[in-house]
Amino acid sequence: MRIAVLAEHTAGERRVALTPDAATKLVGDGHTVELEPGAGLATGFDDDAYRAAGAEIATDRAAAIATDGVLVSVTRPDVATLPGLGAGHTFLTLLDPLWQPGPVAELAATGATALSLELVPRITRAQSMDVLSSMATVAGYQAVLVGAARSPRMFPLLMTAAGTVPAARVLILGAGVAGLQAIATARRLGAVVEAFDIRPAAAEQIRSLGAKSVVLRLDPADSEDSEDPESPEDSGGYAKAQDDDVQARQQAALTPHVAAGDLIITTAAIPGVRSPLLVTAAMVEAMRPGSLIIDMAAERGGNCEVTVADQEIVHAGVTVLGPTHLESGAARSASLMFASNLVTLLRHLADDDGALVIDRDDEITAAMLVAVDGGIVNDRVAAALGSPAAAPATPTPDPPSAPSAPSAPADSGASS
Ligand code: NAI
Repeated sequence: MRIAVLAEHTAGERRVALTPDAATKLVGDGHTVELEPGAGLATGFDDDAYRAAGAEIATDRAAAIATDGVLVSVTRPDVATLPGLGAGHTFLTLLDPLWQPGPVAELAATGATALSLELVPRITRAQSMDVLSSMATVAGYQAVLVGAARSPRMFPLLMTAAGTVPAARVLILGAGVAGLQAIATARRLGAVVEAFDIRPAAAEQIRSLGAKSVVLRLDPADSEDSEDPESPEDSGGYAKAQDDDVQARQQAALTPHVAAGDLIITTAAIPGVRSPLLVTAAMVEAMRPGSLIIDMAAERGGNCEVTVADQEIVHAGVTVLGPTHLESGAARSASLMFASNLVTLLRHLADDDGALVIDRDDEITAAMLVAVDGGIVNDRVAAALGSPAAAPATPTPDPPSAPSAPSAPADSGASS
C-alpha cells in the first residue's frame, strides 16, 4: 500500500493521523508512507522525525496525492484542495457522514473510495480500531482540566488552618466513553461527582468510578427501579433519541442536580442527529453565579440551550463553553491513539501481500464503507442525503454482535 498522510487544515486542529512510530510500523509491514510537508508539526513531530521513521516527505499537498493509494487524515479534507482525486484513491478519515453528508457526496463524486472512521462497528473485534472511543477518552479528560482551570473553586476537600474548603461538585450528563473518562478525571482531582445517562447499563459503570449515579423519577408513578419497557439504546449500543415529553420530564428531574453543580459537563450524543437538549436556559438560571458548564456536544447543537460552539457565553452569571477541539488540547496523546487505531485498521484492510482489499463481506469494512465507484453505498448516509444508496447496496451485515462496554478508564482513582 502507498499511504499518504494529509496535513489538517481545519482551524484549531492540532492532531495528525499518523505519528512517526505508526509510520515505522507501516513501513516495517512493507508499505510506503508519504507525508504532506509539515503534517505533524502542530502535534510536535517535524518532517525529520518522519524521515527517520522511514517515511517520505512530498514536496507539497498535490504531490502527496499525485500517486494512487490510501489517503489518511484526522478530519475530512476539503475536496477543492485535492485536485486529481479519482478511483485510485481511498480515504480513511473522520468523514462525519451522517451529520454532514453533503461534502461526503462531493468526495464520492470524484470516484474515490471512502471509509468513515466514525462507522467502525462497536464490536469487540473492532475495539482496537475505534477512533471515536479514543478521541472521546481524550476529550473527556480535557473537558475536566479546562473546567478545573476555569472554575473559581478548587476540586478537593481541604482542611487547612484557614478552615475547611469544601470539595467542588461536578455533574456529568452522558456517561459514555467521554463521560466515564470525565468522571474518573474529576474524581482524581478530588471533586464530588455525580452522573446521569439514559442507558441503564451506565449506572454501574458510573458507580464503579466512585461517582453517584443519578436516578431520575420521570413520572411520579415510577419507582426507582421500574424498567422502561422500551429500551433507550439501539442494537449498536448507542442511545436513541427521546420524544419531547420524555425530554421535558428529564429536564425537570435534572434541574436540582444541575442547580447544585459547580461544574456541569455534558456529553450526550445520538449518532447523526442533533444532540438532546438536557439543560435549558431556565436550568442555567437556577445555577449559582460563577458556576461553569462545558458542553461537549456543541458541534451538533449542544446539550445546553445557551451553548454556542467555540464561544464563551455568560448567562445569568454562569459561564457556558462549547469547545469543539478538546482533543487538540492533548494533541500528542490523541494522535498517538488515533494513529494506533489506524495502523490496526490498515492491517485489517490489507491482504497477505499487503495490498488494500475492500471486502464488502467483511463486517467491519462493510459498516465503514461510504463511497465507492462514484456513488454513496451506505444506506444511512444515503438516507441523510435523501437519496437511495447506489447499487449494489451495502450488504447488510449480520445482526451486530452485542456491543461491549467501553473499558472503564484504568487507574480510575475510584473509591466506593
Ligand atoms: P455517544 O458519544 O454517542 O453518547 C455519549 C453518551 O450520551 C452515551 O452514553 C449516551 O447513552 C448518552 N446520552 C444520549 N442521550 C442522552 C440523554 N438524553 N440523557 C443522558 N445521556 C444521554 O456514546 P459513546 O460514548 O460513544 O458510547 C455509546 C455506547 O457504545 C456505550 O453503550 C458503550 O458501551 C458502547 N461502546 C462500545 C464499544 C465497543 O467497541 N464495543 C466502544 C465504545 C463504546
